[in-house]
Amino acid sequence: MIYLQKGENMHNITLINGDGIGPEICESVLKIIKSSGLEINWDIQTAGADVIEQEGTPLPERVLDSIRKNKIALKAPVTTPIGKGFRSVNVQLRKALDLYANLRPCRNLVGVETRFKNVDLVVVRENTEDLYAGVEEKIDENTAHSIKIITREASERICRFAFDYALKNNRKEVCVVTKANIMKLSDGLFLESYRNVANEYSSIKTREILVDNLCMQLVQDPSRFDVLVLPNLYGDIVSDLTAGLIGGLGVAQGANIGKHYAVFEPVHGSAPDIKGQNKANPTALLLSAIEMLKYIGENSYAKRIEAALFKTLANGYKTADLGGNLSTTEFTQNIILNLK
Ligand code: NAI
Repeated sequence: MIYLQKGENMHNITLINGDGIGPEICESVLKIIKSSGLEINWDIQTAGADVIEQEGTPLPERVLDSIRKNKIALKAPVTTPIGKGFRSVNVQLRKALDLYANLRPCRNLVGVETRFKNVDLVVVRENTEDLYAGVEEKIDENTAHSIKIITREASERICRFAFDYALKNNRKEVCVVTKANIMKLSDGLFLESYRNVANEYSSIKTREILVDNLCMQLVQDPSRFDVLVLPNLYGDIVSDLTAGLIGGLGVAQGANIGKHYAVFEPVHGSAPDIKGQNKANPTALLLSAIEMLKYIGENSYAKRIEAALFKTLANGYKTADLGGNLSTTEFTQNIILNLK
């Protein structure tokens, strides 16, 4: 359990405002929270490509120190160079703070039209190992190796997190997702760990599925699934797929949770294609912030902000990614009006 540090009734929370659309959606979310009347002392920390020149690293120690002090962070996306350059700040952060569980709840939002009306599932992704451990080597000009690391300790820990989550949130089933028919040793160990942990939770139904079959079934009928627990890479890919089931990345929330710290962040990236155009949808970051407020015990503010967001969407006020015509600032203003 994380205990909140408070200074004169004010929460101290680290804010990583990211890059790309990060600063725009952060501005929106901070305005909405402030308008709700909740005072937060934001410790704003920059990270990513923009700080490398001055500080020699995309993830300076001050960012980690701030989260270690405050215990809680809200994080906007940070760009990772593709195929070259520095290692992902997101992956480094999760590893450095041992934020081993990536929690991505996925349910339909009122007012957001999608192909399916009954999506209500949760993706629980292992966050610290698998092919994301970054153990890669170039053998020669034409060959590269990437090592997939799966340990019993990390696998049992994430499965236990998924079952505990299911118990606490009145969920009925935890389904494990692997490709253990092909990767018999690594995914096989993840599956074996799941089976061991499942024995401790007799009231939760179990289920095993291969990741390719899962993808097919998710796009046929997502209501077949409840809580999914996956190794890192499948979890990353599947959670973008599930985001697509509820209206896209603009509305998909997430959280990285460890024993000591929690970092709340949307599923989406820095969306460089719409950066600086006042087009970004702040909903995914706002929903992540709402979960954060619930996590720190500010339930009444969380519910008020959530109600204002849902009312805005239900009234048809939307950004372009959801088929609407509002800018980020207009959408934000509508939510603030609905807080009153
Ligand atoms: P992306 O999620 O940034 O964008 C994919 C598509 O979704 C784009 O068309 C974008 O415009 C749209 N989109 C995403 N968020 C949106 C929002 N809030 N409102 C409206 N439209 C939105 O994925 P992409 O392009 O693959 O990655 C861009 C960069 O972000 C990469 O450097 C990647 O490594 C990084 N990234 C960072 C993450 C993080 O910080 N946690 C997570 C995922 C990617």
